[in-house]
Amino acid sequence: MVVTVDQTKLPKKLVYLKLKTPKEVAKAIKEMRIRGAPLLGAASALALAQTAYKSKTKTKEGLLRELKKTGKLIKATRPTAVNLFNSIDLVLGEAEKFEGTFKEFKDFVIKKCLEIVEADAKVNYTLSLKGAELIFDGDKVLTHCNAGDLATVQYGTALGVIKAAFRQGKKIQVVATETRPLLQGARLTAFELKRERIPFTLITDNMVGWVMQKGMVDKVVVGADRILMSGHVINKIGTYSIAVLAKHHRIPFYVAAPTSTIDRKSRVEEVVIEERKPEEILSFCGCRIAPKNIKVYNPAFDITPPELVTGIITEKGIVKPTPEDLEKILG
Ligand code: MRU
Repeated sequence: MVVTVDQTKLPKKLVYLKLKTPKEVAKAIKEMRIRGAPLLGAASALALAQTAYKSKTKTKEGLLRELKKTGKLIKATRPTAVNLFNSIDLVLGEAEKFEGTFKEFKDFVIKKCLEIVEADAKVNYTLSLKGAELIFDGDKVLTHCNAGDLATVQYGTALGVIKAAFRQGKKIQVVATETRPLLQGARLTAFELKRERIPFTLITDNMVGWVMQKGMVDKVVVGADRILMSGHVINKIGTYSIAVLAKHHRIPFYVAAPTSTIDRKSRVEEVVIEERKPEEILSFCGCRIAPKNIKVYNPAFDITPPELVTGIITEKGIVKPTPEDLEKILG
């Protein structure tokens, strides 16, 4: 059984989901009960582990077929966060190459899936400590969306960096954007910052320019759903606007993400930006706010070009958003 927090219910209620099948995992991802790129990678791996664990088949070919079916189901949930695709491709790739008995094969697949989950917790902690070196005593740090422990197996990425700096005793102030339309900032980041007792101020997304002009931001740290080898960063809608504003105000703009968020293959024009239902914009907390029969555009992510990114914080080190630097950390 896959047990995780239902992120649609926070901060009002802390509800745990108990997902018994890959279909239930896929549904939870689609409904954004499970969200955040690294957590999507872990959930995908666990859906494959469920498939192997529950399978009644007695042959490697049969199990491989079932794993591929689960992979297809999960890959059809949300198109942008690459961790989801990377996890499935990694497990299926290793499974294809495996040689041994059927029992060994089944154990091997489950082990590989669990390794992905365990690795996520470790790498996020490591990158958070590395990133914390960039945060100084007294810094005012802006973050967008939610890249905290809720979005990962443990610790978080951008919020992990902030948390690590705070736990080191640095007196920091955080500015968190509400993140329209699904309010991951107001609901989830504010929940995590409050729980950690990190001083913070919640703002609406359209206040970023003004708070920067007023000197309320020294650094920006955000997470990522996909980082291309060209250095382009795909993250929650609004990230690009924040990066442009940061450049204008000469504020360093950092992206914190594990190397599992790097897409080694795609070119920028190949990236699929998820478009979500108009209802998310037409309504607010279940209450209709716009007239009927109007046109709505609801992209969930945007693309920040490398020239706006000061550095990428990964578990392997802090690098520039260049193909050479990214190649180096991938080894
Ligand atoms: O649509 P979401 O909530 O899944 O989008 C999440 C983000 O954009 C996060 O910033 C990103 O996944 C990094 S999470 C560590």
